[in-house]
Amino acid sequence: MRTFHQIAELRAHIRAARDEGSTIGFVPTMGALHEGHLSLIRRSVTDCDRTVVSIFVNPAQFGPQEDFAQYPRDLARDSKLCQEEGIDALFVPSAEDMYPPDADTWIDVPGLSSSLEGAIRPGHFRGVATVCAKLFNIVQPHRAYFGQKDYQQLLVIQRMVADLNLPVTIVPSPTVREPDGLAMSSRNAYLDPEARKAALVLSRALMSAQAMYEAGTRSAHTLRDALRSVIGEEHAAELDYAEIAHPRTLEPLEYIEDGAVALAAIRVAGTRLIDNVLLGVGLNHQPRRAG
Ligand code: PAF
Repeated sequence: MRTFHQIAELRAHIRAARDEGSTIGFVPTMGALHEGHLSLIRRSVTDCDRTVVSIFVNPAQFGPQEDFAQYPRDLARDSKLCQEEGIDALFVPSAEDMYPPDADTWIDVPGLSSSLEGAIRPGHFRGVATVCAKLFNIVQPHRAYFGQKDYQQLLVIQRMVADLNLPVTIVPSPTVREPDGLAMSSRNAYLDPEARKAALVLSRALMSAQAMYEAGTRSAHTLRDALRSVIGEEHAAELDYAEIAHPRTLEPLEYIEDGAVALAAIRVAGTRLIDNVLLGVGLNHQPRRAG
């Protein structure tokens, strides 16, 4: 495994690999790698000749009051994990190289970015879409791997790739959970044992909505109420949102006809956690390609 800090050096490495006919898989991350990231990396290593992982805590996707400064960083540990998974290249750019002072181009996907996470974190998806477009241009992957845990992010990236005709296939992957149901997240590291226990209400609420759906409930109101009432039982959890939405457009639903996604976000002891489950649909809800 080679580690690159410079954009030009990584580009030269990828160009040579592509000239040899290698397929390139890409896993963009902000580091603090956990089993969720490793499952994406393993998939890429299996599917592609070479895998590139990026580690970049992207300042553009954090709001001024958010946890950019505290976000967990441990390059030595992450690098070792990547090496053990057999990746070809680790890309660790600097913020100065990714966002030179005169940079003035942003990518907005307004329709999908305005609700849920986007409503609570204005500018977040603009930062995500912009950094992913930049990373795709730098790494030039054939396939890029994204987890379903950040479901709205996945849709935003799929939309951007389709709208900008970017030559990369987005491969969605299921959420990886701890044995007790908690979705893997780098932010779980912020939780003390008491908060960790309270955080379980998020997956518990989503699983109960999923069980109700599987038992035949199709009223989105009933499922939304169930989500809110389970979360409401945990006094240590503050609800940001709980929604039953169309799996592709994220429009809130009244009645589920062709499947849905149940999404929720809570705050526990100052830590924001998000999670979701699909109801009656698979993960491959690709938007139609433009042209
Ligand atoms: O999901 C993440 O870790 C980040 O949003 C991503 C895709 C690496 C962009 O910074």
